[in-house]
Amino acid sequence: MVKPKIAPSMLSSDFANLASEAERMVRCGADWLHMDIMFILYYNSHFVPNLTIGAPVIESLRKHTDAYLDCHLMVTNPLDYVEPLGKAGASGFTFHVEVSKDNWRELVQKIKSKGMKPGVSLKPGTPIEEVYPLLEDENPVELVLVMTVEPGFGGQKFMPEMMDKVRILRQKYPSLDIEVDGGLGPSTIDMAASAGANCIVAGSSVFGAPDPAHVISLLHKRVEQELQIN
Ligand code: DX5
Ligand code: ZN
Repeated sequence: MVKPKIAPSMLSSDFANLASEAERMVRCGADWLHMDIMFILYYNSHFVPNLTIGAPVIESLRKHTDAYLDCHLMVTNPLDYVEPLGKAGASGFTFHVEVSKDNWRELVQKIKSKGMKPGVSLKPGTPIEEVYPLLEDENPVELVLVMTVEPGFGGQKFMPEMMDKVRILRQKYPSLDIEVDGGLGPSTIDMAASAGANCIVAGSSVFGAPDPAHVISLLHKRVEQELQIN
């Protein structure tokens, strides 16, 4: 039975006060903390046009919190970060299918061997069929993150047409953790929850709210409600 997991995206937090922001989110009822890891690897060859945090920041944050750190890797070479992130104390390691066509088996095996939960993510333009082999393997991923915006930045508009992917996945895999990321908040949660998403990443809608605890609880209740109906 899947459980609701509300994961505030720390990309929208005050990075200069990451430890206290993390503590504040946990106090507000966050189940997970979503950590967006974006790097530019080579000149002209980046996965997203932004830079955020890396393993050293996860390692520092881990000293201040026991929270589940749900790491979303928007990099071209996720394999290089399994070891450092495992050591740093990451809990979940979600890589993108678009950059892992040749090495996802090795990635999943390494992520698990470092004690992290392996997940796969797909961009809006990537067909859902591309993640099936990773779910049907004898050593499968344990979470699928369906991007509901183009990865790279917080504060973008939710893409409702991505809910078809969530619906298909939920029908095929009733006990899979299905996460949605981008533009989630009180005005879009109904679409995501009724399609079958149980892990909800929310950045600007949580950090920008006067009462983040209220938003987190609303998202949680809506997912809970849907899981009880089905
Ligand atoms: C975008 C990131 C998201 C982002 C979500 O590439 O993966 O996690 O922080 O932010 P909101 O909820 O503001 O769309
Ligand atoms: Zn993310």
